[in-house]
Amino acid sequence: MVKNIAVIRGDGIGPEIVNQAIRVLDKIAELYGHTFNYTDVDMGGCAIDKYGDPLPESELKKCTDSDSVLLGAVGGDKWNDVPGHMRPEKGLLRLRAGMGVYSNNRPAKIWPQLADASPLKKSIVDQGIDFIIVRELIGGIYFGEHKTEDIDGKPTATDILTYNTEEIERIGRIGFETARKRGKRLCSVEKSNVLDSSRLWKKVMHKLASEYPDVELSDMLVDNCAMQIVKNPAQFDVVVTENMFGDILSDEASMITGSIGMIPSSSLGATTCGLYEPIHGSAPDIAGKDVANPIGTILSAAMMLRFSFDMADEADAIENAVSAYLDKGYRTADIMSEGMTQVGCSKCGDIILECLIKE
Ligand code: IPM
Ligand code: MG
Repeated sequence: MVKNIAVIRGDGIGPEIVNQAIRVLDKIAELYGHTFNYTDVDMGGCAIDKYGDPLPESELKKCTDSDSVLLGAVGGDKWNDVPGHMRPEKGLLRLRAGMGVYSNNRPAKIWPQLADASPLKKSIVDQGIDFIIVRELIGGIYFGEHKTEDIDGKPTATDILTYNTEEIERIGRIGFETARKRGKRLCSVEKSNVLDSSRLWKKVMHKLASEYPDVELSDMLVDNCAMQIVKNPAQFDVVVTENMFGDILSDEASMITGSIGMIPSSSLGATTCGLYEPIHGSAPDIAGKDVANPIGTILSAAMMLRFSFDMADEADAIENAVSAYLDKGYRTADIMSEGMTQVGCSKCGDIILECLIKE
């Protein structure tokens, strides 16, 4: 198969981690007889420096014209003082909205080899951690009106959180369908004791439940969910939640699996053209030092093969290679533990390539 992939290296550690993922994709192409063409796209701080805009229309078009997009990370201290609408992160939000990728899938699964890296007690980890957060990605407070104005002589800031039934229903369906393919348990997370948008969210989820009688729906308030994720993560199968709650809970969920550096994500909308990115940020403090963990990005590339290109064997091959790398005792600094061999970003890529075989 021939696939055209838009590649956004971005800022900070973005270029280093994406380069390792591309080496892995190239090896897959060689082993399975595919052709992957790459188109470089500038987004984030590097695009601000080059064009004065975190995502010019021409760069967004390269993404929507592609078969899928692979992204490293954007942002950094250098651009902290630019106005809100010009920040590197704004490029990412425009990309998500421009691609229409409303459904963000973030797995929280513990690799058995990394059980020791989890900050949770062994007795909790031993019960198993394997759930998915389905996060609504192009609505809610991230995309409502943002303004700062003077009211009664005081600078006053407003961010508006809006959801309509259609936006809730389409992400709800993804939640139910994801649960249907797994353990058939869906937990809808909201703050219906305070927010109108959450009361509407809950109502829509319950209406949908009648169409998915095989899936058990439960509700949980977001503050309780934050607590339950560390107290009893084994209870979760699929969590569906709105944009900002999903942002916060997915960082928490990633950490209990050992390292945020290991977690990939997929974002999809109405078409198979998806956005694939690790859930961590650009980590400017370690950028350019060849110490970052590229596995979140490498596993994001695997998700791209599985969900957008229908290449399940190829995706399995990448995941097995990552597992073999961990079995051999190699670890980047973020997941290093006693008795293991510490490696840098490119060495991690070298070993995963060596482990990569046709399934
Ligand atoms: C994420 C990130 C982004 C988000 C930032 C960089 C805008 O934290 O993908 O989780 O909040 O969605
Ligand atoms: Mg986040």
